[in-house]
Amino acid sequence: MNLALVGDGKMSRAIAHLALERGHVVSTVVTRGENQGGAALTRDRLGGVDVVLEFTRPEAAPGNLLALARLGMPVISGTTGWQSRLEEITVAITAGGGALLHSPNFSVGVQLFLRGARDLARRFAGQPPFAEFVVETHHAAKRDAPSGTALALQEALRTGDPAREFAITSIRGGHVPGMHEVVFDAPFETVRLQHVARGRQVFAAGALAAAEWIRGKHGVFTFDQMLFGEEP
Ligand SMILES: NC(=O)c1ccc[n+]([C@@H]2O[C@H](COP(=O)([O-])OP(=O)(O)OC[C@H]3O[C@@H](n4cnc5c(N)ncnc54)[C@H](OP(=O)(O)O)[C@@H]3O)[C@@H](O)[C@H]2O)c1
Repeated sequence: MNLALVGDGKMSRAIAHLALERGHVVSTVVTRGENQGGAALTRDRLGGVDVVLEFTRPEAAPGNLLALARLGMPVISGTTGWQSRLEEITVAITAGGGALLHSPNFSVGVQLFLRGARDLARRFAGQPPFAEFVVETHHAAKRDAPSGTALALQEALRTGDPAREFAITSIRGGHVPGMHEVVFDAPFETVRLQHVARGRQVFAAGALAAAEWIRGKHGVFTFDQMLFGEEP
């Protein structure tokens, strides 16, 4: 495939590296300096591109996605922290006839972890000795807190047990690619369910699998829908 990357940070570099290994071509990389409000995302610049992968910053993603929607292009977005604009962006993608697959986390393990967490929350419902909480740890440069994945985890847990809060504690430091954990803690025992990402390659692999999947599709999708269909 002929790919365009919007953003040239840690995730875009991991995707570019893996894309070359898999025989794809990265024909353009759009950087922040040239792209205020999505200004560089034009038909000319993206001519011949099959799929655009957008990994930027929470404040930049909506402008990028609206510009790409107008072009009707297939887009994979892994940027976190813009979900409050999803409705507006969905309308724009539909109107432009293109496609968007978005996820705060492109790890297959995390998607299975979210389902496991929901089921675990169901098991702990009505067990008052156990207090519940979520902890997430990321590298010091991560901008948003809580992480998009922690919010998805909280939503999955609340689906499993609407009576519990599942408050999130965020830790930022060092180089951690991502750790998410739900804990049920009673006075004399603890149950933990934890996901640890050991490298960004896992997110890059999922994003590229999504890029391969989205070709020829129209509408707005999540990674969860791609992996498991509509079944919850
Ligand atoms: N979905 C997943 O699986 C997953 C996994 C990891 C991370 N993420 C998320 O993906 C996003 C990127 O992560 P990262 O680790 O790559 O961050 P990063 O290293 O900070 O890279 C972000 C890049 O986006 C650039 N940028 C900002 N505004 C832009 C614009 N309007 N147009 C083009 N580029 C722009 C920044 O440029 P400057 O450096 O010049 O500001 C920077 O190079 C974050 O939201 C992160 O939470 C998602």
